[in-house]
Amino acid sequence: MKAIVVQEDRKNPVLVWETVPDVSFGPDEVLVDVWATAVNRADLLQARGGYAPPAGTTDILGLEMAGVIAAVGEDVEEWQVGDRVCALLPGGGYAEQVAVPAGMLLKLPRRWSFAMGTAVPEVWYTAYVNLFLEGDLVSGETVLIHAGASGVGTAAIQLANAAGATAYVTVGSDEKLLACRKLGAELAINYKQEDFLEKVLAATQDQGVDLILDPVGGGYLDRNVRALKRYGRLVNIGLLGGTHGEMNMGQLLSKRLRLIGSTLRSRPPAEKVKITQQFQAGYWPLLRSGELKPIINTVFPIQQAQEAHAYVAQNKNIGKVILAVRAGADVRPEIPPER
Ligand SMILES: NC(=O)c1ccc[n+]([C@@H]2O[C@H](COP(=O)([O-])OP(=O)(O)OC[C@H]3O[C@@H](n4cnc5c(N)ncnc54)[C@H](OP(=O)(O)O)[C@@H]3O)[C@@H](O)[C@H]2O)c1
Repeated sequence: MKAIVVQEDRKNPVLVWETVPDVSFGPDEVLVDVWATAVNRADLLQARGGYAPPAGTTDILGLEMAGVIAAVGEDVEEWQVGDRVCALLPGGGYAEQVAVPAGMLLKLPRRWSFAMGTAVPEVWYTAYVNLFLEGDLVSGETVLIHAGASGVGTAAIQLANAAGATAYVTVGSDEKLLACRKLGAELAINYKQEDFLEKVLAATQDQGVDLILDPVGGGYLDRNVRALKRYGRLVNIGLLGGTHGEMNMGQLLSKRLRLIGSTLRSRPPAEKVKITQQFQAGYWPLLRSGELKPIINTVFPIQQAQEAHAYVAQNKNIGKVILAVRAGADVRPEIPPER
């Protein structure tokens, strides 16, 4: 089969679509013909040698995919050859085929393109896990979502609203600000023009927010803890702004705050199956019905993975950047009208 291979120069990785060994699959797995995968920030890091895949996992890039089941393992009963599916992966999505544990599969809605399917697992599960399972967000609370127009951010705004919470976001441009407002963010702050702490305190009568979903880390730490209200939670999911930060620990103590760090990829497979099942029962029906929407910015052919990475690295995307592994991955299927 073919897959994207990262050529050796880790500072300037070159992504090449070339022949690699075929994938094998186990008795509780299915083999999927991949139609679409997507770029995640972690892929950019991994291509530079900075984010090793979990032990025992392929080093092919790609944390999610959508495609068609080509073969099923002997212990798999609930899936058939030909089923259209999508799944979270520990790696291996930038390829023509991938093996997936049966418990990780979601069935694609009939009218969804493969591009829509692959736009869901990584960022929607991340938003779901960190808003609700880690961050304990409940109806009536307010969450501040940094990088609101990112893949994760566009999912988090919609999930927060669906749960009856209020979403504030920070973004780096006015175009992104408008996009987040349209998605349902009540307050959008262009952090390049305004101080997010001042804006959050002004919007909350100096109370602060209940939860912050933070992929920035580093330099945001002190302002993040100042922007939280009593019993607030800061969930850090990324370090786009650096690994080191300082904060006033008096804020932590006096407001009884919780600081939480969270990664999805390194969780054990059984935990990921559980997350998939919880998401499927909780919010997947709202995506299937169209109430919530995967936000797709653009689609590159997989052969242009290098250009797609550069596009994401330049912070150009609002929502997801998709890689089409097979032509037509972004076409929604024609469904005959029901009789
Ligand atoms: N822990 C986990 O389990 C997990 C899982 C998935 C993703 N993540 C993390 O979540 C974040 C979003 O992922 P994604 O794939 O959705 O990203 P994405 O779509 O590539 O968007 C990232 C956005 O972050 C903003 N940004 C970049 N550098 C920044 C900085 N120094 N300060 C402030 N904002 C900055 C940019 O938007 P602006 O133009 O608005 O600045 C950029 O477009 C990443 O950090 C990723 O590593 C974590």
